[in-house]
Amino acid sequence: MRPSHFLPLALLISLLFFAACKERSGRVRIVFSADTWGELEDCGCGSQPSGGLARRANALFRLRGAGGALLLVDGGNIHSGLDTEGALRLSRETVSLMGLMRYDLAVLGPRDAGLKSGTVRQLLADAAFPWLGGSWRKGRQALGLDSAWVKEAGGLVVGVLDHVDAEYAGNRKIAGHVEDRLLERVRMLRPYCDVLVVVAAVDPRAPEPLARRLAGQVDLLLVTGGATATTEAQDVGGVLVASVGEKGGALGQLEVEVERGRQRLRRWSLLPLDGAFREDSLVADRVMRAKDVERAYESLRREQARQQKLRELGLKAVDLPGEDAGARYAGASTCLACHGDQYDAWRTSAHASAFAPLLREGRDGDFAARRAVTGWMEKGGWLSHAETPELDGVQCEACHGRGSRHVKSGGRLVDDLAPDPAAACLRCHPAPAPVEPHGLEAQK
Ligand code: HEC
Ligand code: HEC
Ligand code: HEC
Repeated sequence: MRPSHFLPLALLISLLFFAACKERSGRVRIVFSADTWGELEDCGCGSQPSGGLARRANALFRLRGAGGALLLVDGGNIHSGLDTEGALRLSRETVSLMGLMRYDLAVLGPRDAGLKSGTVRQLLADAAFPWLGGSWRKGRQALGLDSAWVKEAGGLVVGVLDHVDAEYAGNRKIAGHVEDRLLERVRMLRPYCDVLVVVAAVDPRAPEPLARRLAGQVDLLLVTGGATATTEAQDVGGVLVASVGEKGGALGQLEVEVERGRQRLRRWSLLPLDGAFREDSLVADRVMRAKDVERAYESLRREQARQQKLRELGLKAVDLPGEDAGARYAGASTCLACHGDQYDAWRTSAHASAFAPLLREGRDGDFAARRAVTGWMEKGGWLSHAETPELDGVQCEACHGRGSRHVKSGGRLVDDLAPDPAAACLRCHPAPAPVEPHGLEAQK
């Protein structure tokens, strides 16, 4: 088979150039991110928020400050996988910010590659760095992406290959075949490269079989697609197998030192992006603005879906007072932080679990859901279990009204909260029994 089938001509020429100077010495650090899944902000999870592009930018700044050659590679799944205008906006902003962070390369992951070709093309067009994605048929044919990337850094030649297993490629029968193709590319590049990395979208629970096939040939197998972050890389026949985890919570680093063609050091380390890193204010600002735009698109999309549903149900949209006042449904988990007592009482009540039986019986789509969710068919309220699962159940705001402005004000602002929450009972109970509203079960 012609080698050019696997490696583009330009790459072959640069390889020939690198081959001229063998027995190299040098040192390089390759820093990896992967599986951002459209999460531009940190997880916001209480005392230990992790991830977020603003933190990533700051961590990279520090890593670069330590000096030495550094390559920066994203292993893919930048996109959330949601094919909406709002989600695409977020991914485009991510790609643009990655350019600002001086990424050297990004790999197309399943969530990115699953988008329409036109959408992926928009992402590629925004990037100030090259992409790998030739292992996807679409990547190779529609987008003209390569399957191999080579760069010199710190006196060493670093090669990166992408790989997509048959499951992701949507054809189990060709499992052996796609691995053979990867091995062929590996064998071709190995003689020229001091460091060889394979970024693989494979089943994160079982990367060992692939690692065994690559034994002795590849330095690092970076597993993407939601594998748990690896502090200690597993060594499978000389191949380090590692992952940076999901939602951009950590960066991974591979350090390699070579002396006259011999590896003296090869080390994997994980850098959790936690409170130890400040947020870069420029990036944080851009992320905040991008999220605002995304929210605007998202509420437009939801509103269109709502109008459509109302038409299907034969109802006319009647906007409730306050629907447009700017307050949104925040969800009961938001209230927990400050109203632990009410939350604890409510959590075990008949209201909190009102939706579960409907879901079990497959009746979550019909009128019965009206009494079992928060803000049924209202603007910004519950639409369906698939679209707005965070509003399943009769939550705090079903009685108290939309709470986002109250939450944002740290509890100071109570204007948007219903002045008489007991009046809400009548919407769902013709004649409710007088009970302590948060712990119904306990009262019985
Ligand atoms: C079924 C309707 C309903 C639900 C659901 C509900 N509440 Fe209430 N809540 C009320 C009513 C009615 C009052 C007024 C009680 C009173 O005056 O005795 C109230 C009062 C309160 C108060 C004022 C202090 C107090 O305890 O009287 C807070 C704070 C509060 N609720 C928070 C919450 C939070 C947080 C949730 C969700 C975890 C929640 N509520 C869920 C109906 C509800
Ligand atoms: C950042 C903390 C915080 C969060 C989050 C929060 N609250 Fe409050 N909430 C407060 C404070 C502070 C008060 C005033 C307490 C007081 O005066 O007793 C208050 C008061 C209330 C009251 C009583 C209002 C009144 O008129 O007296 C209700 C009802 C309430 N909150 C509901 C909610 C609901 C529902 C949520 C979630 C959507 C929520 N709160 C989230 C801090 C918070
Ligand atoms: C959004 C609709 C909704 C609102 C508002 C609401 N409820 Fe309920 N409530 C339910 C549903 C659904 C259940 C589950 C049992 C059922 O289907 O009746 C329930 C259960 C209950 C129960 C327990 C009944 C049982 O069989 O276990 C009581 C008591 C109750 N609600 C009282 C109230 C009171 C008092 C209020 C106002 C403060 C209120 N509810 C507001 C929907 C609602």
